[in-house]
Amino acid sequence: MPLSISGRPDEAQGVKVIHAALDSGMTLIDTADVYCLDDDDIGHNERLVAKALATWSGDRDSILVATKAGLRRPGGRWETDGRPAHLKAACERSLNALAVDRIDLYQFHAPDPGVPFTDGVGAFAELQQEGKVRWLGLSNVSVDEIGAARGIVGVATVQNRFNPFFHESPHDGAIKYCNENGIGYLAYSPVGGGRLNKKLPGHPVLDPIATARRASPHAVVLAWVLARSPNVIVIPGARTVEHVVDSASSAELELSAEELKAIDDGEFSTA
Ligand SMILES: NC(=O)c1ccc[n+]([C@@H]2O[C@H](COP(=O)([O-])OP(=O)(O)OC[C@H]3O[C@@H](n4cnc5c(N)ncnc54)[C@H](OP(=O)(O)O)[C@@H]3O)[C@@H](O)[C@H]2O)c1
Repeated sequence: MPLSISGRPDEAQGVKVIHAALDSGMTLIDTADVYCLDDDDIGHNERLVAKALATWSGDRDSILVATKAGLRRPGGRWETDGRPAHLKAACERSLNALAVDRIDLYQFHAPDPGVPFTDGVGAFAELQQEGKVRWLGLSNVSVDEIGAARGIVGVATVQNRFNPFFHESPHDGAIKYCNENGIGYLAYSPVGGGRLNKKLPGHPVLDPIATARRASPHAVVLAWVLARSPNVIVIPGARTVEHVVDSASSAELELSAEELKAIDDGEFSTA
């Protein structure tokens, strides 16, 4: 997302960052049609991902690309649009932008208060039946909404915000529910997002752990998120090679029970 929204680097840098992620062993790329500047720029990040994959020296088939539909960017704003006609048109655009015949993982970006949630889920189910999508996922959903969707179609993943500043709220219980039901949980904004991640260096709980582990505070936080549950996957964003390589290092970092508890109990102010 940070490679395609306001403040994004140029395309060559974007491709470099994605290559660095893949070279570091990351195997899942999370994108969305709306990771762009506005409605005239829809698909910017999907096109960037397609370009990076086409020019990567590794095995393209080992990489899973997840994208989303259900939002729009009029005038650069973020607005929901869960109408089935929008979702179906968005799928055609995403197939084209990603240059694929089938989307690996297609996620309903967010419930639209103006459209019954199950209507949108039904559209995703039809896209899967038509062979345009392999797996379906949801995002920004509560346990009740996950349950409602599962009454219609199989749900492979749920993507909600989870970081030390926002412990699941307002979607409490989703990680546990997903784990009990064989659903992957993609923790978004795992280091706090573009603004709050800057508060990690110098944090009184993270700093001593980072020093002892010879890791960055960002990597410590990612290890803490990953330790939450076996079904949790982190999808950190980055605009620099240095940051993406550092984030990848968190996969090797196993925190002790005491360290995990210290972060659980730490104060992480959003102010
Ligand atoms: N489903 C949804 O509604 C939703 C909403 C938001 C995000 N997401 C997904 O979640 C992904 C990540 O979310 P996000 O970008 O909001 O938040 P994030 O990953 O918590 O934070 C991203 C920012 O933190 C910095 N950063 C990340 N790792 C770092 C490291 N190891 N060391 C130093 N700085 C580091 C990066 O700075 P630099 O840019 O300077 O490298 C980056 O811009 C997005 O790319 C998107 O795929 C989904």
